[in-house]
Amino acid sequence: MADQAFVTLATNDSYSRGAMVLGKSLRNHNTSKKLVALIGQQVSEQCQSVLKRIYDEVRVVDVLESGDTAHLAMMKRPDLGVTFTKLHCWTLTHYSKCVFMDADTLVLSNIDDLFDREELSAAPDPGWPDCFNSGVFVFCPSMETHGKLLQYCSEHGSFDGGDQGVLNGFFNSWSTADISKHLPFIYNLSSIAIYTYLPAFKQYGGNAKVVHFLGQTKPWSYTFDPKAKKITGSVNEATTHPTFLVDWWTLYSSAVVPMLKEQYGDNAFPIRMCGG
Ligand code: UDP
Ligand code: GLC
Ligand code: MN
Repeated sequence: MADQAFVTLATNDSYSRGAMVLGKSLRNHNTSKKLVALIGQQVSEQCQSVLKRIYDEVRVVDVLESGDTAHLAMMKRPDLGVTFTKLHCWTLTHYSKCVFMDADTLVLSNIDDLFDREELSAAPDPGWPDCFNSGVFVFCPSMETHGKLLQYCSEHGSFDGGDQGVLNGFFNSWSTADISKHLPFIYNLSSIAIYTYLPAFKQYGGNAKVVHFLGQTKPWSYTFDPKAKKITGSVNEATTHPTFLVDWWTLYSSAVVPMLKEQYGDNAFPIRMCGG
């Protein structure tokens, strides 16, 4: 359907690499939806060109900052104030329904059935399951809702300094009102949960549809040997599952790196983006 889209956000080149892999993974699993990337002005021309090859629409947005250093420090993620920028997704009113996905997510099978759900549908957050995780959510673009969200931000701020705090405050009946708005955890499997409940992961993890590399260390923080199909250096197994990490890198090195090389030219291509 032309009026439905998957939407992601990348304010810089690092998260753009995540967005490229996410977009490719959605295409590989034959989505029939449009793909939209919201980007910050800081994203380089080269990365923008690659994103435009993968996404139907690449839109430059103003980067919003919560500036809430106190709450962000509690989460130990001073970098997440910019996630307020996510709220721009409600302005995409040429779509009637969208699914937002963090740039650090990877799709493992077709998830177009998410569009059968209503706003605001999301999966539980592994750290506090009465809150939803804002890495994957179904929403309906609306200038009215966008305005209300910004108003909510100015009146109440965010309890975590990022978008997840705002969205859980705004959609505060999520945990109790309507079970159909609770996405199964396999639509947003935070890699962190694998180690907090390994037996459940062993039981259900094979059905995972979306893996979310939640936490400070992202797939692009590692390096990879594409020939050996191995991550070089040590993997923080407390937060990242090695198999999913190899899946991310396999797609990145086979489908994204060649496009980046075309843009940067072999010589000028930043070596750390190559991963080995
Ligand atoms: N993001 C971004 N630039 C940043 C930080 C975050 O574009 O500097 C976007 C990106 O889409 C990212 C999302 O905001 O996936 C949420 O941040 P992150 O995934 O790092 O949070 P986590 O899931 O680890 O809590
Ligand atoms: C979370 C979510 C992420 C969000 C961040 C800040 O842990 O995974 O999507 O941006 O909190 O609120
Ligand atoms: Mn994330």
